[in-house]
Amino acid sequence: MLTFSKIKDTQSFLENERKHGRSIGFVPTMGALHDGHLELMRRAKNENDLLVVSVFVNPLQFNNAEDLKKYPRDLKKDEALLQAVGCDLLFAPQTQEMYPKEETKNYDFGELESVMEGAHRPGHFKGVAIVVNKLFDITGPQRAYFGEKDFQQLAIIKKLVGMESLPVEIVPCPIVRETDGLAMSSRNARLTPEERELAPFIFETLQWAKNNKGGMTTSLLKQKVNELFETRPHFQLEYFEIADDKNLQPVTSWENGRGILGFVAVHLGKVRLIDNIRFI
Ligand code: PAJ
Repeated sequence: MLTFSKIKDTQSFLENERKHGRSIGFVPTMGALHDGHLELMRRAKNENDLLVVSVFVNPLQFNNAEDLKKYPRDLKKDEALLQAVGCDLLFAPQTQEMYPKEETKNYDFGELESVMEGAHRPGHFKGVAIVVNKLFDITGPQRAYFGEKDFQQLAIIKKLVGMESLPVEIVPCPIVRETDGLAMSSRNARLTPEERELAPFIFETLQWAKNNKGGMTTSLLKQKVNELFETRPHFQLEYFEIADDKNLQPVTSWENGRGILGFVAVHLGKVRLIDNIRFI
């Protein structure tokens, strides 16, 4: 596996690969890799000639300085996992390399960013869009792989690709979970052992909601989920939303013929976790 920290090296190596007709499958990450990331990579490796991964903790997408500071980082361990999964090129830049000057680019994702993560983390998706656009420009992938764990991010990236007419196919990948149901996340490493034991309650509640939604209005279901979290003192629910799978706007009825998911953001101790489940 090659590891580059410079944009120029990465660009010129991959340009040459493309010239020789090799397809590039790209998986952008912020490191602290787990099996959720690795699933995306296995798929990308399978479907392309080259697997390219980026590890970059992108300061622009953090709206909370403490979260950025505490974000887990372990490049040595990541490199070993990437070797094992057959990564061909790792791009791991420093912040100065990615952002030598202030970013002025702005994006308007309309209603997609007015809800859930967009509403609760101001500037987050702008930061994601700026870095992903740059990373696509540097790596020039044919396909890029994103997890449904960050369902709203995936919708934003698809919109970005449309808005900028980027020549890349976005491949959505299902959520990978621990055996007890907790969605894998780099932030799980920050849970205390006690919190880690409590954490499966998040997915249990989403499943409960899915199994019990029959006969309940969407607003009653939302109320019940709020009440369930209120019984658990370690959890502080930020939102539970029932939303359309295309425009991500809240739905008020279980209309036939549309895709609907339940989305949750919750604080467990000092760690903010998100998850989602498809209802219909
Ligand atoms: P990060 O949180 O490291 O996630 C990288 C990719 O892995 C994202 O597409 C995310 O949805 C996916 N992923 C994380 N946990 C997953 C799980 N349990 N199952 C399936 N996929 C999972 O998302 C980001 O980084 C950043 O915002 C990034 C796109 C790299 C831009 O900085």
